[in-house]
Amino acid sequence: MDNISLDYSKALVEEHELKNIWPYVKTAHDLLHKKAGPGREYTGWLDLTNSIDRDEIKRLKTVSRYIRENTDIFISIGVGGSYLGARACIEALNHNFYNALPGDRRKGPQIYFVGNNLSSSYMLDLLDLLEGKDLAISVISKSGTTMEPALAFRIFRQYMINRYGHEEAKKRIYIITDKSKGILRSLAQREGYTSFTIPEDIGGRYSVLTPVGLLPMAVAGIDIDEILQGALDGAEEYSKDTGENISYKYAALRNILYKRGKYIEILAHYEPNLHYFAEWWKQLFGESEGKDKKGIYPSSVSFTEDLHSLGQLIQDGRRNIFETTINILNPRRDLVIEEDEEDLDGLNYLAGKTIDYVNKKAFEGTLLAHFEGGVPSIVINIPHMKEYYLGKLIYFFEKACAISGYLLGVNPFNQPGVEEYKKNMFRLLGK
Ligand code: PA5
Repeated sequence: MDNISLDYSKALVEEHELKNIWPYVKTAHDLLHKKAGPGREYTGWLDLTNSIDRDEIKRLKTVSRYIRENTDIFISIGVGGSYLGARACIEALNHNFYNALPGDRRKGPQIYFVGNNLSSSYMLDLLDLLEGKDLAISVISKSGTTMEPALAFRIFRQYMINRYGHEEAKKRIYIITDKSKGILRSLAQREGYTSFTIPEDIGGRYSVLTPVGLLPMAVAGIDIDEILQGALDGAEEYSKDTGENISYKYAALRNILYKRGKYIEILAHYEPNLHYFAEWWKQLFGESEGKDKKGIYPSSVSFTEDLHSLGQLIQDGRRNIFETTINILNPRRDLVIEEDEEDLDGLNYLAGKTIDYVNKKAFEGTLLAHFEGGVPSIVINIPHMKEYYLGKLIYFFEKACAISGYLLGVNPFNQPGVEEYKKNMFRLLGK
C-alpha cells in the first residue's frame, strides 16, 4: 500500500550520526509514552483511540449536516491552535477557489475565518458579505478569554441575534470550548447553544483532531472518518522507538542539523493550497520548541512562486538553514500541455507532458540545486493529498514535534512566552 515516506539522502546527515542520537530518541519516547516528561498533562492527543469520542463524532456529523443544509456561509471564529488546523485541512483538501465556486459545486457552505486578527477592516469586510445569506457561526476557544476570538464573537454573535432574533440565532451559534471551565461554557449552558468539548489534556496546537478541527472540516464536506483513520494508523506506525519510525527519524535529523548551526527550517511545498498547512506546522513547531532561548525557527515557502523571491537566499545566502519539502506524488488534478502550431513561446518541447510533470521537474531541479548549494534537504513524500494521508501527516508532525522538543530539552506543550505581549497590551488597554 502507498504510504508516507521520508527521504533524507540529501540531508547531509550520516547514518552514524543517527545511530549516535538514537539513545536520546528512545529516552524522549519513554518520557512521552510513560507520561514522565515536562508537559505530561497535555499529552492526551498521543493515544487517539482514547481521545476520539465516537459518540461526540456522531453528534458532530449530525450538526455539520444541519449546517451544510441550512447555511450559505459558515464563520469559524478562533486563533492559533483553535484556528490553523481547521483552515489548513480545509484548504489542503478542497478546490483552490472553494469559496468562489457555485453552491452546487461545493460540498458545504462558503467558509470564512475571523477572530484570528484585530483588524477592523477585515471584520467589516466580512460583515459586508453576509447580507442576504443564511449563516452559522462557531466560536472555538479553549480558554474563552483570548482577545481576538472573544471580540469577534461579541460582534458576530450580536449580528446573528439582530439578524435572526434570539431563538433562531440559538440554532446557528456553536461553541467549542473546555468541558467545564470558562465563560464560553457558561454561555453555552445559559443560552442553550450547541457545544462541543476540547479535551482538557490537549493543548491548542495539538487539537486539530478534536472538534476544534473536525467541526469546521465536516462542515466543509471533508470526510473526517478518513482523517481520523489516517491519524489512527499514524499513531500505531509512529509508536515504535526503532529506526523504522520516520516521524522519530525526522525529529532526530532536525536536531542533528540544529546542533550543527542550522537554526532555521524552511518547509517547502509545490501546491499553493498547502499554504495554511505550513502555517499550522509553523505554529506547532514554533510554539512548542521556541523557549528557554532555544529552538529551530520554522519558516515556509510556496514553490515555485517563492523560487522567484526567497529562492535566491536559500541557494546563496547564509548557510544556517535546512529545508523540508512536502512532496505530493500525485496531484489532485492534472493538465496536459497541448502542441501549438506557431510555437511562439518555444514551449512545444513540453507538448504531451503535463503541468504536474513540469512542477515535479522544478522540484527535482530545486532539490538538487539547494543540496549542491549546501542546504541539507529532507523530503516527505505523500502519495495523494487526500483525507487519509493528511490525517496521518498531522500525526506524523505532532509526534515528531513532541520528540524533537524533548530532544531539545524543552517542554513542548506550554507557551509561556505568549503571555508577555498580552500583559503589555492589557496594561495599555487599561484592563
Ligand atoms: O497552541 C495554543 O495553545 C495556542 O495557540 C492557543 O490555541 C491560542 O492561543 C488560542 O487559545 P484559546 O483556544 O484559549 O482561545
